[in-house]
Amino acid sequence: MNSLVTYQVEDNLALIGLARPPVNALGQPLRAALLQACEQANSDPAVRAIVIFGASGLFCAGADITEFGSPASFATPNLPDVLLRLTRLDKPLVAAIGKLALGGGLELALACGYRIGEPQTRVGLPEINLGLLPGAGGTQRLPRLIGVQAALEMMISGAQVPAKRALELGIVDRLAGSAEHLLASACEYARELIASGAPARPSEPFADPAKGVAADFFERYCVEQEPRWKSRLAPRLVFSAVQAACLLPLEQGLARELALFKQAEASRQSEALRHVFFAEREAGKVPGIDASTPLRPIAKVAVIGAGTMGGGIAMNFANVGIPVILLERQGDALDRGLTQIRQTYGISVKRGKLSEAQLEQRMALLSGTLDYADLADADLVIEAVFEKLQIKQEVFRTLDRVCKPGAILATNTSSLDVDQIAAVTSRPQDVIGLHFFSPANVMRLLEVVNARETAADVLATTLKMGRSIGKIPVVSGVCFGFIGNRMLEPYAREAHRLVLEGATPAQVDGVLTGLDLNMGVFTMLDLAGVDVNFLVRDANRAAIAHDDSYCRLGDELYALGRYGQKTGRGFYQYEGRERHNDYEVIALAERLAGELHVTRRPVDDGEIHARCLFMLINEGIQLLDEGIALRSGDIDLVWINGYGFPAHLGGPMHYAEQYGLDKVLAGIRHYRDSLGDYGRMWFTPAPLLERLVAAGKTTIERI
Ligand code: CAA
Repeated sequence: MNSLVTYQVEDNLALIGLARPPVNALGQPLRAALLQACEQANSDPAVRAIVIFGASGLFCAGADITEFGSPASFATPNLPDVLLRLTRLDKPLVAAIGKLALGGGLELALACGYRIGEPQTRVGLPEINLGLLPGAGGTQRLPRLIGVQAALEMMISGAQVPAKRALELGIVDRLAGSAEHLLASACEYARELIASGAPARPSEPFADPAKGVAADFFERYCVEQEPRWKSRLAPRLVFSAVQAACLLPLEQGLARELALFKQAEASRQSEALRHVFFAEREAGKVPGIDASTPLRPIAKVAVIGAGTMGGGIAMNFANVGIPVILLERQGDALDRGLTQIRQTYGISVKRGKLSEAQLEQRMALLSGTLDYADLADADLVIEAVFEKLQIKQEVFRTLDRVCKPGAILATNTSSLDVDQIAAVTSRPQDVIGLHFFSPANVMRLLEVVNARETAADVLATTLKMGRSIGKIPVVSGVCFGFIGNRMLEPYAREAHRLVLEGATPAQVDGVLTGLDLNMGVFTMLDLAGVDVNFLVRDANRAAIAHDDSYCRLGDELYALGRYGQKTGRGFYQYEGRERHNDYEVIALAERLAGELHVTRRPVDDGEIHARCLFMLINEGIQLLDEGIALRSGDIDLVWINGYGFPAHLGGPMHYAEQYGLDKVLAGIRHYRDSLGDYGRMWFTPAPLLERLVAAGKTTIERI
């Protein structure tokens, strides 16, 4: 038998083990091996039932994602055909689902007439996260098994369903007592089926999935959900496929699903989301560290500063059971910080995401102090104080005195030079940047700033720690603003300038949200604080602002005390969280344009798109060239997870690749030549972009 499956006949049972590490992805070789094994079992008169299981415990994580977009994806035997054939075998098949059955893996299990899990089993149809829909019968077979509503919910959310819930829903028929007993229990189940003369496939609980579903179910679902889908294609295709399950007999429904799947697979959105999937896995691979790099134990964490940021950071550790001590200068600030954390957890309790007991457990892991001496036994200290170099350096001098040898000393700075912070300590090898994004307990991005002298084991430990608290850690070198905020700078600069030239904040934001960004740049600045943005800009003015018009609108709003949402006024006016255009801001832009001799004119949306996006992309390419970012996929992850860039566009670098690097370069040159002095000052193409285009490259890499 092929080495990708194990095959054994025992006691009238054929045991077929999937053996393609690490996750039994159903690529062509495994599909062929599985089909052959099933045919062999079917034609062996000694076999009366078949058990399919994961040879290493894990059942199957679905189709092989590396095949999508290539001929291998549907190479014979293709997955839908293999699974259709399995449903037509005349012996009962039992899927023994250890650990995971995702996507095509769950579809394989659904093609089996019977399914058994174990207590740790999780099942799901996460294809939507790859811009796809289940394409091997899942959209037709799951509604017939558990009903339309639950099936649609699983496919639209892409969420993993734990074992107990899978049992309640009827996705699995029973659970083994433990993972170790799964195979034995599956065999027992198969023998029971033989003994009772059970059919190869039992009848489906929802054979007519439309029955019992309200006539306006799909219509209402669409009205409620569609606004959240923005311009994403996959949810719409999932929806159509599930509708087909209600309208068409199985065979026609499967044909419809296949057509929709192929449409999704060929889409740019799916290509982008697949790029993101692999970028997330690549991001963990960092030159100079590997599995043999030693790790430092992190059993206790300290956070300096109990403000919104410090509190949010602390919650991440309490959430995974690590004790955290918060340090503040004043008792009342400490109390406020701890109260705020309790309130935030309280919201999760109200939403049913956390129990009261869990809230108390987490609060019990959090303690406060006003005394640096209490930080002596911390393994990791994260500083989250005011964003000013001298203040942070003072904190690090103190940490150097009080912390135990080997403690990792991290700064949460968003723009300062981590080398200069490390330099005030006697142990720069232990210092690293850990840039969390606000709200730090929610946002998934963690920029890990690898300073000049940061030790390899410090980097390896923080990357692992980042993943263990559910973040996506991305390594950045030291520069102003690291990857994310450095790219934000030219992007925000263009947005400001466009308003001077005649656009409105709402128009600029509208172009960006029209691309499906979570929010436009002005809404974001109002949320983050016009003051915060001003102070960072002001501290770096000499280095970055060599033009009088540079972010002048933001400077003036700061001078007027219009700090954004928190003061009810910024680039917009606010009533609560409701945002309104403010004609005073337009009048201010008109006045500033007059003073600065900027000619006002109607600005079209295409220009807004090009100037904001191309400058963002250009800076990203420059960061790659400088080695600040290790790869373009890392830059994409930063902007998707920290700045709300839509994953279905793949991040700004992937967006540029899909858009055409030559077109991006031509656009930058166009504005360099058409915007006079301003254009000549700011629209300089990154040398790497020029080299890539000259070399005829269509993907962004260092050359
Ligand atoms: N195809 C190809 N490779 C896969 C894969 C898949 N379905 N799933 C995981 N891998 C690879 C990863 O790329 C990674 O490779 P490297 O070590 O070379 O980087 C390796 O397996 C291990 O993966 P992770 O690092 O992600 O390991 P993990 O333990 O953190 O997570 C997992 C495991 C939960 C299975 C996660 O990998 C995952 O979510 N995989 C994708 C599952 C999925 O989306 N399945 C649906 C596929 S589409 C489909 O099935 C369409 C259909 O209807 C036919």
